Amino acid sequence: MKILVTGGAGFIGSHTSVELLKAGYEIVIVDNYSNSSPDVIDKIKKITGKDFKNYELDVCDKDSLEKVFEENQIDGVIHFAGFKAVGESSKNPVMYYRNNIDSTLTLLEVMKQHNCKKFVFSSSACVYGNTSDGKCCEDSPLAPTNPYGETKLVSEFILKDLYKSDNSWGIVILRYFNPIGAHESGLIGENPKDIPNNLMPYIVRVASKEYDMLHIFGNDYKTIDGTGVRDYIHVVDLSIGHIKALEKLNKENGLFTYNLGTGHGVSVLELVNTFSKVNNVEVKYEFTARRLGDVDINYADVTKAYNELGFKATKTIEDMCRDSYNYVLKNKSN
Ligand code: UFG
Repeated sequence: MKILVTGGAGFIGSHTSVELLKAGYEIVIVDNYSNSSPDVIDKIKKITGKDFKNYELDVCDKDSLEKVFEENQIDGVIHFAGFKAVGESSKNPVMYYRNNIDSTLTLLEVMKQHNCKKFVFSSSACVYGNTSDGKCCEDSPLAPTNPYGETKLVSEFILKDLYKSDNSWGIVILRYFNPIGAHESGLIGENPKDIPNNLMPYIVRVASKEYDMLHIFGNDYKTIDGTGVRDYIHVVDLSIGHIKALEKLNKENGLFTYNLGTGHGVSVLELVNTFSKVNNVEVKYEFTARRLGDVDINYADVTKAYNELGFKATKTIEDMCRDSYNYVLKNKSN
């Protein structure tokens, strides 16, 4: 089977591309490198020892995308490409709606023209509203608190309507919790172009002395130690979730929605302390005000993904901390 991976040079896209190749799929990557780098393509080839085609293009550019479908017999698509910075989305919502919705619509139109009807969509735990105890299951209320989350939810609505109109589609919506970690080779990982918004990329830059200090946003939450609790999942586990989603679509058509997380919450302080211990490195921090829009606790109910996909995250917080830092150290010395 040949899978088109949009955003395949990005953090989750690159790791999923590796797992796809390892599992025997052929892939084609499209990416415009807006938040990634072309040398990731060579690194995926180096890790797997396999070759594949890649195109530099914007998924909103229909003509270029059509060319990809004309030149390759694409059997299914995993759609990662999209803007993903929560804060930026509040400052520039139109840009977020334009890019994230347009890319999904363009892709679905071109897929339909080529009778390609297997689609795995990168959604986010951001689509959930605040739940009373922080645990989210797939039918928890949907109420994003920022435009980024809204673009994911609107895309989910589009996919639901598409399936209602034509049940020969097979669609899996994957709602990611907090992916961190990196491939054990240290060749690929998370490397945001700007100042990181997310916790782990910030921690590694403090540990490697690029930044002086981590600012922990709030220590008065109703949690084990007052800092925010999230469900961190190793990016390789998350990538394997995509292989399971494709396996599901190879068995049956339908529209399916799954959380991908570990089912366990970890606080900011627990993550920082584990990182320091595992890597034997100091991470200086100070407590600052709460960040707007943050909740106390957010973690996944993973029952449905386990029961229906056989998906279970296996890597520990220690693995995530070790692999995140290994990637940074390897890429500093290169
Ligand atoms: N945090 C800090 N300091 C930082 C960055 C983060 O203390 O410099 C804290 C946050 O307050 C939060 C925790 O670390 O308590 C995790 O924050 P992240 O920004 O890493 O992750 P979020 O949970 O806010 O959001 C992430 C993704 C979203 C996704 C969401 C799903 O950024 O895209 O998880 O829950 F939708």
